[in-house]
Amino acid sequence: MVQSNSSDLDVAVCEVGLRDGLQMFNTPFPTAEKLAWIQAERAAGVREIEVTSFVPPKLVPQFVDAREVVQGALDTPGLTVVALVPNLKGAERAIELGVHRLNYVMSVSRTHNLKNVRREREESLADFKRIADLIRTLPEDRRPSLLGGLSSALGCGYEGRVPVADVRHWAMAYAEAGADEIMIADTVGYADPVHVKEAFRAVMADVGSLPVSAHFHDTRGLGLANAAAALECGVRRFDASLAGLGGCQFVPAATGNIVMDDLCFMLDAMGMRTGVDLEKLVAVREIVARNLPSTPLYGALARAGLPVNYRTPAAAA
Ligand code: COA
Ligand code: ZN
Repeated sequence: MVQSNSSDLDVAVCEVGLRDGLQMFNTPFPTAEKLAWIQAERAAGVREIEVTSFVPPKLVPQFVDAREVVQGALDTPGLTVVALVPNLKGAERAIELGVHRLNYVMSVSRTHNLKNVRREREESLADFKRIADLIRTLPEDRRPSLLGGLSSALGCGYEGRVPVADVRHWAMAYAEAGADEIMIADTVGYADPVHVKEAFRAVMADVGSLPVSAHFHDTRGLGLANAAAALECGVRRFDASLAGLGGCQFVPAATGNIVMDDLCFMLDAMGMRTGVDLEKLVAVREIVARNLPSTPLYGALARAGLPVNYRTPAAAA
């Protein structure tokens, strides 16, 4: 299996701002600046970045440069290159380029799946199986890992509350279809820590040794509390975006992911090794700021700075 360079870390963090964040913007973020962002964030210690999305460029023009971005990202030493794929065609494009990890998107909520990828969940799952089959035909050293993403799993902008039983159903369906990992996503920021614990504990018990990762949005201010709750359940891989960029054009009032800089600070302060240098990470925000000058950037660490005499507990241990 490609990747898995994180054995010396307690928690893996994956930057998703280049995909989840940028998909909201119709003005293109220059390819060279995307690559500068990727390289700077890798230099700050981030080892996994979701660099693009293999969707039709007509639908999301921001990703017209998917090929160039992936090629540049693959030249960045020590980086696991992740890409979102919504169907078999997207997976074929990503595999051809040598992407390390495919983040397949399907929503637990039927309505959101129809809006987002224009198909029933059963059709999404059938395509996921085709992708798993395709991967098995590749030589072992060229196989990407296949992540089964469950969007709108903890709430839906159209349907409201999403039953935990449905999350369990689709997580098991992914597991049986050959997922290497399941990702539970609170796409619209509806979750709270109690809900998170209920859903993650149930799914983690169901899928056994299969890793379960978390993708939270901070729409209602509970993003980091939810991450802490997932951490308590045993989750050790989190998506986040620098400065909290993010959202989904198919979800009314969707806002950004949890802030990468604040997530890393929380984990670091809790004594968990992320591999990230907090000051270098905060400095990368400048690349986002200069390219999106009228976009608000979020983040408490960037606003307040590190506490006086702060020492990384994990480094001291
Ligand atoms: N990459 C590039 N082109 C693709 C593609 C992909 N992943 N999937 C389909 N296409 C092309 C088809 O070849 C076809 O092209 P043609 O008109 O030249 O023949 C066209 O797009 C329509 O194909 P179809 O299979 O009918 O797709 P659709 O119109 O039903 O759309 C999705 C389905 C999944 C491609 C689309 O809904 C999508 O990309 N959704 C993701 C939206 C998103 O980014 N959401 C945010 C992430 S959470
Ligand atoms: Zn998201």
